[in-house]
Amino acid sequence: MSPLSPTPAESGPARTAAVIPAAGRGVRLGPGTPKALRALGGIPMLIHAVRAMAASRAVTLVVVVAPPDGAPEVRNLIDGHALPEHTDYVVVPGGATRQESVRLGIAVLPEDVSVVLVHDAARPLVPVDTVDAVIEAVRDGAPAVVPALPLADTVKEVEPAAGPGLPEPVLSTPVRSRLRAVQTPQGFDRDTLVRAHGSVAVDGDGATDDAGMVERLGEPVVVVPGHEEAFKVTRPLDLVLAEAVLARRRANDGF
Ligand code: C5P
Repeated sequence: MSPLSPTPAESGPARTAAVIPAAGRGVRLGPGTPKALRALGGIPMLIHAVRAMAASRAVTLVVVVAPPDGAPEVRNLIDGHALPEHTDYVVVPGGATRQESVRLGIAVLPEDVSVVLVHDAARPLVPVDTVDAVIEAVRDGAPAVVPALPLADTVKEVEPAAGPGLPEPVLSTPVRSRLRAVQTPQGFDRDTLVRAHGSVAVDGDGATDDAGMVERLGEPVVVVPGHEEAFKVTRPLDLVLAEAVLARRRANDGF
């Protein structure tokens, strides 16, 4: 594994790269270090996420989008942790929104990358089989692929409350069996993803989901089965769950 400078063009066969937006502050997790740099099992969440992408033989490049002022720190961090031989990495500074961070990551992809995964640093434990299933579906011709799971909870659409704690009128109850909770890595044909990011302007907090931007282009997006271990670490309880998943993996296979 070696760091690459973010040069735009490289020769060689078409390949798969993963862009990992990791520039968020993670305020819902409570005060402290940026979320991606919090430790899980003694290792920063971001390193777990990078390794989860590099675990796929198909992924030869990982682009990490660091907090805007944190690229050198993130570069040092990755240098200090082993990655598989077949994986190079680039670190670029991110932006004010996830959408902007992803766009900055896509901008440094070498020419020969034709399949792009976008994976939240906040989903450190996604299994390699899920990563490979997403890549395979893109290689089979889908321009955009999303891993997702059926919902345990029924979902209500509401009119958001005028103030904290006020009751919220229910507008509708979508049929639960038709709903899916979307995870990452999401996989894209590179040109489709570049077009989506080139044509959808950042509105407010920006898009939370790259596949949604592809939908707005009118291009088809398909769902493949996600995995319960691909959950997003968002709130303090998610850290407890993530530690438990790691402990189970260690007990099962010495991971
Ligand atoms: O905030 P949320 O959990 O939706 O963030 C999803 C991912 O987007 C996280 O990995 C976070 O680090 C990243 N992000 C980013 N740049 C931002 C905001 C979020 O890379 N400005």
